[in-house]
Amino acid sequence: MAELTNPEKRMLRLMQETDKKWTLDEILEACDWDDQATAVAAGHGLSNHGFVKVNESSKTDVILGTEGKKAAKNGLLEARIWTFISNKPESSMRDLSNEFERNETGPGVGLLKGLGVRLDAGKFSFDDAKNIDSQISERTKFIQSPSIDNPLIEHFKGRKNLIEIVEVVTRTWSITSTGKQIPAEKLEEVVNIAEITPELLQSDKWKEADFRPYDVSLEASMPRSGRSHPMQALIERIRSIFLEMGFSELVDDYVQTAGWNMDALFIPQDHPAREMQDTFYLDNPKQIKLEPRMLNSWKEIHEHGGDTDSTGWGGEFDPEISQKGLLRTHTTVNTIQYLANNPNESCRVFAIDRVFRKESIDKTHLPEFHQIEGIIMEPGANLGMLVSTLKTFYEKMGYPEVRVRPAYFPYTEPSLEVEVKWRGKWLELGGAGIFRPEVTEPLGIKDPVCAWGMGLERLAMLVLGLDDIRQLYISDLEWLRNQPIL
Ligand code: PHE
Repeated sequence: MAELTNPEKRMLRLMQETDKKWTLDEILEACDWDDQATAVAAGHGLSNHGFVKVNESSKTDVILGTEGKKAAKNGLLEARIWTFISNKPESSMRDLSNEFERNETGPGVGLLKGLGVRLDAGKFSFDDAKNIDSQISERTKFIQSPSIDNPLIEHFKGRKNLIEIVEVVTRTWSITSTGKQIPAEKLEEVVNIAEITPELLQSDKWKEADFRPYDVSLEASMPRSGRSHPMQALIERIRSIFLEMGFSELVDDYVQTAGWNMDALFIPQDHPAREMQDTFYLDNPKQIKLEPRMLNSWKEIHEHGGDTDSTGWGGEFDPEISQKGLLRTHTTVNTIQYLANNPNESCRVFAIDRVFRKESIDKTHLPEFHQIEGIIMEPGANLGMLVSTLKTFYEKMGYPEVRVRPAYFPYTEPSLEVEVKWRGKWLELGGAGIFRPEVTEPLGIKDPVCAWGMGLERLAMLVLGLDDIRQLYISDLEWLRNQPIL
C-alpha cells in the first residue's frame, strides 16, 4: 500500500470513525488543524489513493467589490448625501460641493434623483422623505450583508465595482469503500519532519528521519517582493528596444531656454503654445545667456529665412525672448542641441524623458509627463525610413498595426501623426517628420534628419489597459503589486 502522510492518516482515521460528508471546517475542527492547506492537501492525497471521494458543488454568490467594501464601511454615496440633504432644509448644490468630493456630488445627486429627490435651480427638494429613507436603508442593508436572492442585486449590478458575482465552489470529503478497509495500524502517525533545522543536521537523527514530501501542486500564497514601478519597467523596455535597433541614449536637463525649445525649431515667437498659460517659464533662472552666434542666425532665419528658400516669419525677432528660462515642453529641445553639437556625424539618438506643459489634470492630461524622442541623421534618410523605424518600434512593443497621417509642426516638413490600433480603434501616440531647412541650415547640418516625439504615458495606458492616466502616479500599492511584470 502507498505511504500516507501523517495528516492523511489523521483524516482517514476521522472518516473511518464517522462516515459522512465532511466540510473543510468540520475537518479542521475535528483534527485540530488551523491551516486549511493541510486539510486540502490531505484530502487531495487521499483521493489520489482512492480512499476518499471529493464532492464539489458550485453556486453563484455575491461579494463586495472594491467600492462596495468602502461603502460597507463609510456608507453608500446616496446614503451619505441623503443624510446631509435631509438634515439641512433648503440645502443647495453649493452646500453639497463644500461637503463632498467633486467626483461624488454628480453621481450622488443622480442616484438621489432616482429615489425622488429633485434639484431645481440649484436647490434640493423632495416630498416623501420616509419613502426615500426606507429605500436607502434597504440598500444599506444589502451592502452590509449582500445576498444573491435579494432583488436589489439588479440595481447594484449596474453600479461600478460595488458588487461582484462569483462562482463559489464548496467541497466535501467522504470515505470510499476502499478507504474503509485500510487497517487501523496503517494509520498510525509517524514523526514526519517538515522543516530542516541546524540541530537536526548536526545530530545524526536526519539519517532515520521521515521527511514530508513536497507537493508542488498545492496552492500557495503569492510571495510579495520588491519590483520596479510599471512606468520604470516600461521605460526599461523601450530603452532596450531602441538600443537593440542601434540607437544611443541622450539624457539632458529639463531646464532650458525658449531659444532652444522653440526658436531653434522655427516656432514663431508669437506662436500661441509659447504663452504663459501653456508653458512654465522660470523665475530662476529667468534668463540664460545664449551665444550671440546662435541668436543672430535664428534672427536671420525667423525674419528673412536666412540662406534657405524660405522667407521666414517676417516681423521682428527678439533675442531677449530666446533667453528666457523655461521647463522644456518637449524633448525635441535636446535632440536639436545634440545635432547643433554634432552637425556632421550621422547618428541615431533617442531620449525618454520628462516634459512639462501647463495642463489641467484630468483622465488624459498631466502637467508633467514623458516623451519618447528620437532622431536619425544620415545621408539619404527619408520618410520611408522614419515610418519603418516607428513601425518596427511599435511592433516590438506589441502593437503591429501602425499608421501615419499628415500633420503640421513648424519644424518638420513633411509632418506626420503616428497612430496605433488598439482594441479596434486608432489612437494617436505622437508626431514625427523631417526637420525643415529653417531648422537644420543654421546648425550647419547637410544630411536629412528624421525626428519624432511620442507620448510615453499614452503608450503606458495601452500597455497597462488604463482609462485614467492618473492611475500611473497615485502610488496605489494594491494596484502596483498586481500589475503584470512587463
Ligand atoms: N515635439 C512634438 C510634440 O511635442 C513631437 C515631434 C517631434 C514632432 C519631432 C515632429 C518631430 O508633440
